[in-house]
Amino acid sequence: MSEITQINSLSEYKEIYKQSIDDPELFWGKQAETFSWKKKWEKVCNCDFDGPNINWFVGGKLNITENCLDRHIAKKGDQTALLWEPNDTNQATRKFTYKELLSAVNQCANALKKNGIVKGDRVILYMPMVPELTIAVLACARIGAVHSVVFAGFSAQALADRIKDAQAKMVISADVNRRGNKIIPVKEVVDDAIKMNCDSVETQLVFRNGSDEIAWDYTIDKWWHHELDGMSEECEATEMDSEDLLFILYTSGSTGKPKGVVHTCGGYMVYASFSFINVFQYKENDVYWCTADIGWITGHSYIIYGPLLSGATTMMFEGVPTYPDAGRFWEICEKHKVNQFYTAPTAIRALMAKGLNIPDKYDLSSLKVLGTVGEPINEEAWNWYNEVIGKSKVPIVDTWWQTETGGIMITPLPGITDTKPCYASYPLPGIEPVLVDSEGNLVKGNNVEGLLCINKPWPSMIRTTYGDHARCKSTYFSLYKGKYFTGDGARRDEEGRIRVIGRVDDVINVSGHRIGTAEVENAINEHPEVIESAVVGFPHPIKGQGIYAFMITDETLKTKNEFEKEVRAKVTEMIGPIAKPDEMIIVSGLPKTRSGKIMRRILRKIASDEFDSLGDVSTLLNPTIVQEIIEKKKSI
Ligand code: PRX
Repeated sequence: MSEITQINSLSEYKEIYKQSIDDPELFWGKQAETFSWKKKWEKVCNCDFDGPNINWFVGGKLNITENCLDRHIAKKGDQTALLWEPNDTNQATRKFTYKELLSAVNQCANALKKNGIVKGDRVILYMPMVPELTIAVLACARIGAVHSVVFAGFSAQALADRIKDAQAKMVISADVNRRGNKIIPVKEVVDDAIKMNCDSVETQLVFRNGSDEIAWDYTIDKWWHHELDGMSEECEATEMDSEDLLFILYTSGSTGKPKGVVHTCGGYMVYASFSFINVFQYKENDVYWCTADIGWITGHSYIIYGPLLSGATTMMFEGVPTYPDAGRFWEICEKHKVNQFYTAPTAIRALMAKGLNIPDKYDLSSLKVLGTVGEPINEEAWNWYNEVIGKSKVPIVDTWWQTETGGIMITPLPGITDTKPCYASYPLPGIEPVLVDSEGNLVKGNNVEGLLCINKPWPSMIRTTYGDHARCKSTYFSLYKGKYFTGDGARRDEEGRIRVIGRVDDVINVSGHRIGTAEVENAINEHPEVIESAVVGFPHPIKGQGIYAFMITDETLKTKNEFEKEVRAKVTEMIGPIAKPDEMIIVSGLPKTRSGKIMRRILRKIASDEFDSLGDVSTLLNPTIVQEIIEKKKSI
């Protein structure tokens, strides 16, 4: 079997990029041939953005886990596939070779089957960062069940919303989650969620992560270790069509509830592996570490699928960057001689704030590639990452992509293309980014800004939003005809590099997590004394963006502190702690257009203390409110 194309030089990048754009079917067909298919596809790409109707490797049959695991056994059966570093430093590292991981996945797959899970069923995973989460993801894929991992920081209410939307038959959980010196209940949250009318759930499979006593419902709860005990280590991989669902991952948009982004088997597989091998320049025996949580797309594509499809050694970390101290990341890099390290700007900023030279205590000489993802990286953080972590010798890949894109889209290639602070720079082969103005006209040339769109289909792109194809169409494909709209604004510099500036819609990027303003407002409005609220993002030194809430309230006798505490508790209950407002202010009105729409643009400026550039406010329904809000903001 041939190998995936690994670009080795700038001239190769230019040549391969051109080929991939001129003849995408030839290019992607060649990449796909490197995998093991149960039946070859009839056509590489059959896509239109009007439907949208996205089909890659049409008619092809495969199982992605055979490509992640079985395919590597002959040559790499005894190589470490998965390395796991625990939260607690006195607990041992765990390692799974490719052979061991395959056996564990098969046992779990057999346990799922025994519990009535069949191809097409949805399984929600709400788990800590333990190897069993990776095993459960792959076990679902092994038997054709659709996995939907929900980040274990979401509240019972948010989890219940997702369980109901997916109509999940099973939830896989754990008793507790360890994060730093906290032990967080997990099963309790799932129990509460299931009680919120999640009638589709027949089984909760609970991984034991160390608790002593736990509430148990014998009608649905089952221990992971009991169910897997004695299960065969062989499990035939279910044949999947290229376009059968692989997973659903919920993400926030500007309106309404989070949407279930759908990814399918064939195209996702090819792109996850192609992008991994190229962006991280992974070489045989390297140790690769991505610090993301598997509850986000980064964990799906670049902890599990991309690395395992490529036969890599991938590491998972259970804990947090600051426990037991702010040297933990670097201690782990030294301990496992990590070669590629991939993290978020927010983690870099948080660690910088703890002490600029802490990393100097560790031997970081194994590092060959440093990556960032999730939000724009500011120049100061980029420089620190470059100088203190990379000793100015290790290329930084600032990777831009989204839950919807399935894989990295715009990024430097380490050691191949140049790097520039804050610039995601150049598209990967097959990706054609364009900038448009608000009317959809192409913004040509260099040194320009615009809305970032993608002109051509690529294999791992979103197929639909689960249960609501119309929403997928209106969000991504209707605004600018014939193009996928990302929701981001970007600029192109003199030499054609792309810098992604941030969201142009009502999505706030808090510590690299996407939060919809509408979701937060709905949660705040649940507080009995809140009449109306508006939420915007504002610059935050560590989180990138913080959440600012403007609220109109009933008269209250509570102190400001009491009231704010209650609002934060409400948001934590409805969504989770990540969506808690950082700053709050009570106002008597909100700036609105004559048609009653809240002018968030003005609130964003006020929240950012940019009082002098509010633009024309005279056309507002209630222009005087602006001055009142400014005065209030200045007074706190
Ligand atoms: O605004 C962009 C920002 O994160 C958004 C996607 O968020 P999510 O779907 O949660 O996926 C995050 C991990 C892939 C984008 O629309 N974003 C992501 N990476 C970058 C970025 N903004 C600037 N630079 C990046 N490298």
